[in-house]
Amino acid sequence: MKLKLADGREIPVEPHKVRIVQKSYLVPIEERLRAIREGGYNTFLLRTRDIFMDMLTDSGTNAMSDNQLASMMVSDDAYAGSESFYKLEDAVKDVFGFEYCLPVHQGRAAEHLISKLFVKPGDVVPMNYHFTTTKAHFETFGGKILEIFTDEALNTSSQEPFKGNLDLDKFADTIKKYGADKVAFVRMEATTNLIGGQPFSLSNLKAVKKMAAENGIPLVVDGSLISENAYLIKMREKEYKDSSILEIIREIMSLADIMYLSGRKSCSVRGGMIATSNKDHFDRIMPCLPVYEGFLTYGGMSTKEIEAMAVGIREMTELEVAGSSVDMIEYFVNRLDERGIPVVTPPGGLACHVDASRFVPHIPQLDYPAGSLTAAIYLTSGIRSMERGTVSMERDGDGNDVPSDLELARLAVPRRVYTMSHVEYAVDRLEWLYNHRDLVGGLEFTHEPPVLRFFFGKLRPKGEDWGLKLVEAFKSDFGSDA
Ligand code: F0G
Repeated sequence: MKLKLADGREIPVEPHKVRIVQKSYLVPIEERLRAIREGGYNTFLLRTRDIFMDMLTDSGTNAMSDNQLASMMVSDDAYAGSESFYKLEDAVKDVFGFEYCLPVHQGRAAEHLISKLFVKPGDVVPMNYHFTTTKAHFETFGGKILEIFTDEALNTSSQEPFKGNLDLDKFADTIKKYGADKVAFVRMEATTNLIGGQPFSLSNLKAVKKMAAENGIPLVVDGSLISENAYLIKMREKEYKDSSILEIIREIMSLADIMYLSGRKSCSVRGGMIATSNKDHFDRIMPCLPVYEGFLTYGGMSTKEIEAMAVGIREMTELEVAGSSVDMIEYFVNRLDERGIPVVTPPGGLACHVDASRFVPHIPQLDYPAGSLTAAIYLTSGIRSMERGTVSMERDGDGNDVPSDLELARLAVPRRVYTMSHVEYAVDRLEWLYNHRDLVGGLEFTHEPPVLRFFFGKLRPKGEDWGLKLVEAFKSDFGSDA
């Protein structure tokens, strides 16, 4: 919710009151140095007790509503035929408009089943951008990912409102080049996670659907951040400015042959699902559910989470809920942008993404600038962000590093968790770091897992110990207790 102040400024105001809180810890900078060294300069390996603001992700960390929590108390734990499932099914029909819903334990479980059933070796899967787990699953089953985003998508200082759009000419070329029968499906991710949480427009999605349908290619929508994408459509796509979030979500979903999502984002729970109105698709997926996830009426989720998901799906259609992170992200991004700190613009639906390539341009890409920046942000602020750059890529078949399209430090804004003063603090510390950016150096691996190395990999400063130098500069400005 944005409100206008008497001086003309517009600020995001939290559209809720806080009634349950969790203590967070700002440990002194010396302790933060110990923690990041122990974690191998990898913010995934930090512990909550060493973190002041956890902006690693919004995944499973959004604040639930009172009604979601209350619903968990009346869940039905029946192995089969749980009433909780039927409430979820009703919510999926009412809000998304799908006939069938299959719960799974989280988003990547949906990706596993979809790739297992719909991706054959030699297939290609065009998409507006990949997500790490998506790519891992689709490639495991022999598919090749084709990223056919628009030219503007990788421009980090852009005003293009829909950088999550698919490039239609490239889609047509893909169909021509590979043949429609080799295109397993086209996947549209609602706000492209790895390149700045950028939305697609409904007019683009309609055009994608038309081309896909003409060629007999199914459209799969990753709806993990569906309400944020819908909110950005309402804000940015003129034709939809008077539509409700519910109407926009429904229209997006009406175009999807299959929709899957991580329930940990827009739904504000833990869990995931696949939904469709196509009986053949449902009949193909259903038998796999008890093998890999659980019986249809729980699918590997706790029934408490199923209850809360049913409520979360209805609540995500409220304007204030759909916009609660987006408005704060916009403020966060604009505050940094006006200070000349390089951030991805326009603001998206997931996080404030700091552009490491422009923040620490002196660090070569294969020395992991985004990894260095996330560690430096933690050191100077106690804020945990996530590396979304070359560390998050896999090596190629010859063992070489594959440079990422973008080098980003992602400061996720989980819904309803942080306040405006938290954002002001983050802006202040990022500005201090930007003014001392020359102190930050590169990283090198000391332990590198073979897949999804960003989760458990350990690194250290390459060359001199720049972490220590940064700590000393910080202490001389703020003292050792800050
Ligand atoms: N799709 C998208 C677009 C995602 O952002 C995620 C997870 C998944 C699929 C996988 O879902 O975690 O429930 O298995 N994104 C998290 C993040 C991990 O931090 O952005 P999951």
